[in-house]
Amino acid sequence: MSRIAVVPGSFDPVTLGHIDVIERASHVFDEVHVLVVHNPDKTAFLPLVQRVALLEASIRDAGLPARVSVHSWSVGLLVDYCTDVGATALVKGIRSQVDVAYETPMAIMNRSLAGVETVFLLPDPAHAHVSSSLVRQVAGLGGDVSPYVPAAVSEYLEHG
Ligand code: PNS
Repeated sequence: MSRIAVVPGSFDPVTLGHIDVIERASHVFDEVHVLVVHNPDKTAFLPLVQRVALLEASIRDAGLPARVSVHSWSVGLLVDYCTDVGATALVKGIRSQVDVAYETPMAIMNRSLAGVETVFLLPDPAHAHVSSSLVRQVAGLGGDVSPYVPAAVSEYLEHG
């Protein structure tokens, strides 16, 4: 039986830290669904469709296998998506104690709701300080974000 995992996030925009976690998840699971989730608690920087397109380009450019696919989800529980596609695990990257505090209640809730386990992966230290929110801030203030994001994202942010 094939083991399917979902890597969810806002990916607003996708960073090299995300690509690292997605690639590592592909070493552990047979199929990886990268899921761009509409988070009603956040005002989006990029539209959902653009986040999906940038993830697809970045995953292709990183040479990840076809068992890694990109999807989006804007209505309902994340675990409903997992149940629909037969995924038994969520994969999240954990950079710090702040991430642990943010992720722990959601992991417990998702297991309680649908028996979906959450697997936490530690980041490559090279990406431990990288977040979408810092990328947005640096880009918005005219800084160079190319060391932190895939080429498709830096090109999009620079030229549209
Ligand atoms: O990249 P982000 O913004 O940290 O991703 C957060 C995300 C999308 C993973 C989180 O908001 C989430 O899990 N949303 C799903 C909503 C849901 O199912 N909530 C109920 C159980 S926790």
